Amino acid sequence: MNRPKSKPGTSSRVQLHQLMLPEHANAYGNVHGGEIMKMVDEAGGIAAMRHAQRPCVTVAVDSMTFISKVNVGDVLCCEASVNYVGKSSLEVGVKVSAENPITGELTHTNSAYLVYVAIDDGGAPASVPELELGSDEERRRWAEAKQRQAERLARRARKG
Ligand SMILES: CC(C)(COP(=O)(O)OP(=O)(O)OC[C@H]1O[C@@H](n2cnc3c(N)ncnc32)[C@H](O)[C@@H]1OP(=O)(O)O)[C@@H](O)C(=O)NCCC(=O)NCCS
Repeated sequence: MNRPKSKPGTSSRVQLHQLMLPEHANAYGNVHGGEIMKMVDEAGGIAAMRHAQRPCVTVAVDSMTFISKVNVGDVLCCEASVNYVGKSSLEVGVKVSAENPITGELTHTNSAYLVYVAIDDGGAPASVPELELGSDEERRRWAEAKQRQAERLARRARKG
């Protein structure tokens, strides 16, 4: 696999905002967790494809914990950035917040880590650009993501 030219994380960052409507609600009138998970995967997938400049598929999603509810009428905000890249895989972190558009109040709802794989025209893993690390924060995220990826691969190996 020939490696494409390296890219900074800033070139693939994503901010997705969507107004939560009654169609996004569960039976109790709050936003359905599945709606949030779908938007998280969309934001993560866009960041992965922007970095890879190729189609990317989701290969792993780490556990998600919702620490506060999202109301109908809130704006769901997903901020996604590429933390780490392997040869064909990318870990993307997504921070989710609920914004009250009237008051501007922002509530952190959850964070998630997802792994995508860039694929070639035949659906096989394709090489992705190296990630340029421009700050201590980016280097910290890289180191933590590399550790998480090693743990995922160890879990996969244990399952066989
Ligand atoms: C993604 C896919 C092409 C990978 O194929 P594969 O034969 O498993 O390829 P590999 O084993 O070589 O793995 C490719 C990369 O994914 C990583 N990977 C595979 N399984 C993983 C897992 N469970 N967790 C984290 N990373 C994983 C590998 O470490 C490797 O990374 P690297 O190239 O950076 O070293 C294949 O598994 C697939 O098509 N899966 C279905 C994806 C899908 O339909 N998603 C939902 C809809 S988008």
